[in-house]
Order: sequence, then structure tokens, then C-alpha cells
Amino acid sequence: MTPLELQHYLDDRKRLVEKSLDAHVPSANRPPQRLNAAIRHSLLGGGGKRLRPILVLAAAEAVGGSIAPVLPMACALECIHTYSLIHDDLPAMDDDDLRRGVPTCHKAFDEATAILAGDALLTLAFELAATPIPGQPDGAVLAMIAQLARDAGIHGMVGGQMLDIQAENRETTLAELQNIHIHKTGALLRACCLIGARLGGGDEGQVRRLNRFGEAFGLAFQITDDILDVVGDPLIMGKKPGNDQKHNKASYPALMGITQARQEAQNMVNAALEALSPFSTAADPLRALVALLLDRTH
Ligand code: IPE
Ligand code: IPE
Ligand code: MG
Ligand code: MG
Ligand code: MG
Repeated sequence: MTPLELQHYLDDRKRLVEKSLDAHVPSANRPPQRLNAAIRHSLLGGGGKRLRPILVLAAAEAVGGSIAPVLPMACALECIHTYSLIHDDLPAMDDDDLRRGVPTCHKAFDEATAILAGDALLTLAFELAATPIPGQPDGAVLAMIAQLARDAGIHGMVGGQMLDIQAENRETTLAELQNIHIHKTGALLRACCLIGARLGGGDEGQVRRLNRFGEAFGLAFQITDDILDVVGDPLIMGKKPGNDQKHNKASYPALMGITQARQEAQNMVNAALEALSPFSTAADPLRALVALLLDRTH
């Protein structure tokens, strides 16, 4: 895939996802107006990359599935991700003012509204995830809903966010840091790949490989997020860099320096590409996406 082809692909998928998200969220003039306005502000008001839903669609495609049936599940992943950002930005957590190029939810509204907008997005996600998929037994969808709940919850993202907070202002080992990143960010990205592969009709071996791909992708993604927090341009990122250092967070650059952190990200990208080796050109979007991580600017 050439860079231009990838750009077209991403633009197209983004449009598809955003159109679907827009259709699933009540308009801001419907009650409760303030809640709906806050949800829309965070979900659709800024410029998210829509990486998680795009991964769901691309994983389904990689196993020969079509994208329309998994679109509601893809949107569910974006809802969970957006809720996690709203809560991550709260004063009690990372205390950030800018997200996706617009004020964070609690800045544009207030803290109570931001907490509720996050809660609403999390529950909306499970409503969307429960959409039946033509050609898939309900049991298969049910299993993926349970998978999603696990990866978003105690043993996944939420657990990782707890570890992240508890690692502030103290030394961490590399193993500890890896564990934080695998959970707070990796679990959801891995879930996208696994769920997309399974609901796209992938066989056991394919699902296992795409799960491995997602695992490596997830760690590479958070390492590069940490790097951007040090070297990134706020205008391109749509969020303020420097916050990890300000809060004395456990991060790859803090633990090993930028050069070594880049090397770790490269190693993870290689591992992700290796997991895709038996796949045909149907997996090219996934290959291009993971390669993009190494020089991403936002
Ligand atoms: C940011 O995720 C939070 C992390 C898990 C590192 P993204 O960089 O995917 O944020 P958006 O969705 O594009 O805003
Ligand atoms: C966020 O990690 C992970 C989740 C939201 C689950 P960060 O705190 O590093 O994300 P940014 O840098 O604020 O986007
Ligand atoms: Mg955080
Ligand atoms: Mg943060
Ligand atoms: Mg960060």
C-alpha cells in the first residue's frame, strides 16, 4: 500500500465510522440536552483518528470478512475509547485542558457532565456491541461482548488506568511499565483486532495471529504516545505535550530515553508485522497502519 492509498483508505473508513457514530448519538437538542451536547462534543466535535474502529474493520477484512456487519461493533470500540479519554482528562486523573484540538469535556462543560458523558458512552458501547450480526450465531456475538467487557474493565483498560495512577511519582521497572501500557492502552487495541477477526469470520489460527498483532500494536502505540508527549507538536496532536513529565508518570522516555524508546517501538512493530506474515494482501491495511506508528506525529 502506498502512503497515498493508505491515506485514502483511512479517510474512507473514518468517514464511514463517523457517519455511523453520528447516527447512533442523540442530537444535542434532544433531552437531556446538556448530556447529549457533551457526548457529541467529545465523540464528534474534535478530530479523533478513529484508530480503534478502523482496526476492527481492517481485522475483519484481513480474514476475508466484509465491513458493514462489524460497523456497530467498531463504533462500540470508539465509544469506549472516547469515554476513557473523557475520564482520563479529568482533574482527578491527568488533568488536561485540550483533547482532539478542542477543550476537554470537563472544560467545555463541567466535571459532573464529563463523568456522565463518559458513563453514557460506555453503556452506549454495549448497546451497539449487542447488534446481531447476519451470518454469525448470536453466541459468537455474545462471546465478543464478554471479551470486550473484560478488555475494557478490571483486567484490561480500567485496571491499567489504576496502575498508571499508582505509578506516578515513583520509580518503576521496565516490566511494571510494560504491564501498565499493555493494560491501559494495549488491551483495547488488541480487543479491536481479535473481535474484528472473529466476527469477520476468521478461523482459530487467524484470530490467534490477529490477537498477537493487536498486542504488539497496542504496546507500540503507547510507546509512541509517550514519545509524542515529549517531542510532539500540540497543534498537530490536538493535546498538550509535557503532561507525563508534569505528573511524573511512568513512561518509556522517562525510563530509558527517547532513542531506546524508539527502538522498543520498532521491535514491537516488527513483532506485529511478523504476526501477519501468513496473511494475504487483505492484511495490507493492517501492515500499513502499524508501520505508520513509527513516524506518527499525532
Ligand atoms: C490517545 O489515543 C490515548 C491513548 C490510549 C494513548 P489516540 O491517540 O488514539 O486518540 P484519538 O482517538 O486519535 O484522539
Ligand atoms: C491514556 O493514556 C490511556 C487511556 C485513556 C485508557 P494517556 O494518559 O497517555 O493518554 P493521553 O496522552 O492523555 O492521550
Ligand atoms: Mg492517562
Ligand atoms: Mg492522559
Ligand atoms: Mg499520553
